[in-house]
Amino acid sequence: MSKPNAWVTLATNDGYAIGALVLAHSLRKVATAHKIHIIYTDGVTPNMLHQLQSTFDDSTLVDVLDSKDEANLALIQRPDLGVTFTKLHCWLLTQYAKCVFLDADTLVIRNADELFERPEITAAPDMGWPDYFNSGVFVFEPSEETYHKLVQFGLQYGSFDGGDQGLLNLFFSNWRELDARHRLPLIYNLCASVVYTYMAALKRHGDQVKIVHFLGAQKPWLKGGPTPLPAFWALWFAIYDEKVRGTVPSDINPAYIDSTEFPLRTIPLSSSFPILVPFDKPEIIPSRVLAMSGLSSASNASRVLTPLSPPPSNVPIAKSTIPIISTQSPHVYKTKSSSSVAKVDESSKSLLSDTTKEIESLTSTVADLAINLSAESTLTIEKSSEEGPTSDERRQAWEQGRPDYQGRDAFENIMKAIEKSLS
Ligand code: UDP
Ligand code: GLC
Ligand code: MN
Repeated sequence: MSKPNAWVTLATNDGYAIGALVLAHSLRKVATAHKIHIIYTDGVTPNMLHQLQSTFDDSTLVDVLDSKDEANLALIQRPDLGVTFTKLHCWLLTQYAKCVFLDADTLVIRNADELFERPEITAAPDMGWPDYFNSGVFVFEPSEETYHKLVQFGLQYGSFDGGDQGLLNLFFSNWRELDARHRLPLIYNLCASVVYTYMAALKRHGDQVKIVHFLGAQKPWLKGGPTPLPAFWALWFAIYDEKVRGTVPSDINPAYIDSTEFPLRTIPLSSSFPILVPFDKPEIIPSRVLAMSGLSSASNASRVLTPLSPPPSNVPIAKSTIPIISTQSPHVYKTKSSSSVAKVDESSKSLLSDTTKEIESLTSTVADLAINLSAESTLTIEKSSEEGPTSDERRQAWEQGRPDYQGRDAFENIMKAIEKSLS
């Protein structure tokens, strides 16, 4: 009989174990046909380990591998990531034919089993430096030989970021030149903490996203507030509330927060951005997720439980509200957790009107940013310009593709504003 395939993740402590639990439940929700395996270290407490073992198909205790490379870890401002060398143990899972490694801070929101058709090494570009791959999601073929080569390589050359990503990119240094099968589209590793500068692409491909990655020091299970794509953050909490919260002894990780008390700044996704696909029980989708989806009832929610079919490339995409980071002060409100469908309906209605108001006050567009930037520079360049278009008129001009390139929106003005904000 041929060997099975597996999704693999890693947790060296209870915080990441919580992430791993949510990840495993997300994989089950999208009905993966493959095994789900966790590698863990003795930093995970026995209670939490019990939860991991009852959720994952299998688990393996491994030793911590730590780069202890403080200097390079300082470059990515993550002194905690030396232990990510522990990931290398995944190559020892030779009971599987092929694996996909997923960081414990990822969430699978649509079935992505087709990844197992890809060869080693397959990954998506890192959003900070796209010539390198991000090691939060990668396809690999377990092999003792590769494991030993990787460890030897790490000892010899180290890692340029102090973590596994720097090491793996040095080891698989020809990744960028490999054929297209080795390069994943961003929908398989959409980084929820990146402020997307290409909003048009996010709008076009947002509803095809399969794997979300909460990259960076801010994680859903830590205090700190949502990332720039708060709808995905809320999806994480939806799974956490439904599947994990009740199973985790409260003394295990006192640092993680009660999401019902979590101040969540929400910006609705339109119904043309149906990210609710993973839920097999739409009636228990927490109200804030419904609110963010623009859906007001559980019956409507089932509408989005259809298989993914990307829009034909020649069809223009309707104008819709998309999540975008706001430059204004966050408007914060609390949500109630939903214990019944009726409650979901009521609270989502009021959330909907709240959030609609919020879009108006919080959504900033690329045009807004450009206007703000160039308006600021205008002050320094043309001090006396009291007359001229109002900011509303300027916004309209931007939206219609006619910025005042000869005057206030001149390239030099915008450049000056950008340089000022960078310095
Ligand atoms: N990890 C872990 N314990 C740690 C740090 C990291 O188990 O103390 C694992 C976990 O699977 C995590 C991955 O290593 O998702 C990479 O770390 P992280 O996701 O924090 O890095 P980022 O993606 O934010 O750069
Ligand atoms: C990256 C990856 C993460 C990795 C870290 C350290 O940001 O997302 O998986 O552990 O770098 O190399
Ligand atoms: Mn990560």
